[in-house]
Amino acid sequence: MEANIIVGVSGGIAAYKAAELVSSLVKLGANVEVILTPNAAQLVTPATFEALSHNPVRVDTFVQKISREIGHVALAQRADLMIVAPATANTMAKLACGIADNMLTSTALATKAPLLIAPAMNTTMWEAEATQANLRTLLARGAHIVGPDSGSLACGTVGSGRMSEPTEIVAEALRLLGRKSDWEGLNVLITAGPTREHLDPVRFMSNESSGKMGFALARAAMERGAKVTLVAGPTTETPPSGAVLTRVESTLDLLSAMEALCDAQDVIIQAAAPADYRFEAPSGKKLKKNGGEPLTLKLVENPDVAKAVAARKKDNQTLIGFAAETDDALANARRKLTDKGLDMIVLNDVTRKGAGFGTDTNIATLITRRDETECPLMSKRELAERILDAALALHTIQPK
Ligand code: PMT
Repeated sequence: MEANIIVGVSGGIAAYKAAELVSSLVKLGANVEVILTPNAAQLVTPATFEALSHNPVRVDTFVQKISREIGHVALAQRADLMIVAPATANTMAKLACGIADNMLTSTALATKAPLLIAPAMNTTMWEAEATQANLRTLLARGAHIVGPDSGSLACGTVGSGRMSEPTEIVAEALRLLGRKSDWEGLNVLITAGPTREHLDPVRFMSNESSGKMGFALARAAMERGAKVTLVAGPTTETPPSGAVLTRVESTLDLLSAMEALCDAQDVIIQAAAPADYRFEAPSGKKLKKNGGEPLTLKLVENPDVAKAVAARKKDNQTLIGFAAETDDALANARRKLTDKGLDMIVLNDVTRKGAGFGTDTNIATLITRRDETECPLMSKRELAERILDAALALHTIQPK
């Protein structure tokens, strides 16, 4: 393996396992440069890592001078991958906030290489709201996380927080380094999240789409080299940076955005959950109670955005939709594939545990006019990769 890998070791008891990680990466042929945080250097010695990596080990940003280069910047620039293992709660918090107060965190901020983080900490610290928020921030920014595993911890308890085994971290590193750039040169338009239909200024009708599926697709497509345009409804999830983002509120807004953007795209993936209906007569003012009288609201059907996009489809475009179903799932999805003029539809039966709205995982069937492929329970990120594989295969065989 010809790769420059930085291994950042922060001050958790699992720091000793980083020695095995470095040794395995070196055996695979990587040039490994190790950074210890000052706390890690209290637990493990630079000498161990120097012997294993055959490279000088950095601990302090300013005191040490290795040749004449500005340590963290030069190191960051030549890296193909940066691994932080173990990543303590403290180091994760710094990475999430962009704090650069030691050699490890400065290098992480200065690198454009993918960041692979192997958290390790006490279960309560891992589950703490602050750590989970930092984790979400890092994921949204494109960091890759391996672990933590469950098991007995150094603090004497049993639970989640144990650093993944070095073999698992190496496997993930190899996957990231071997990642394809097979979407390079392609323009991809992705929709994500729900739409909202307002009844009055403070009330609306919507659904539970979080945007996670669409954002996972956007992240994966960007990492595989695509130029991604994202149209997202209101979400609390953070969209990935690097995509050109248009925010929309209602299905009519989504329609306008898609009509403006769709012609320039090679592949369009519609993972959003647009409302099928809107209120016929939304009020400009907050509606008041009506002395106990029933309130009758009339809904009118929204346009079908996917159909409108398909109506303008160019020969060399590939259109992918999603189907969120609760009953007769396969039959409904197959019908939507044809009715909406799509090349592929991703069926998720949202009644299944771990599938559909709001979850980090999904279960799907990829349906084309030729075949159907089952994707069992997996992370939305993993499913995104499968959808991109299938979409690219379809796009390559489309008539040009
Ligand atoms: O966002 P998450 O929380 O991660 O959840 C993901 C998801 C469940 C929302 C996603 O995986 C999904 O299934 N999205 C489609 C939801 C949906 O609207 O399904 P549908 O069967 O009603 O629509 C079928 C297709 O037509 C979809 O591609 C949809 O974007 C599109 N559509 C629907 C209605 C409409 N008026 N216009 C449309 O273009």
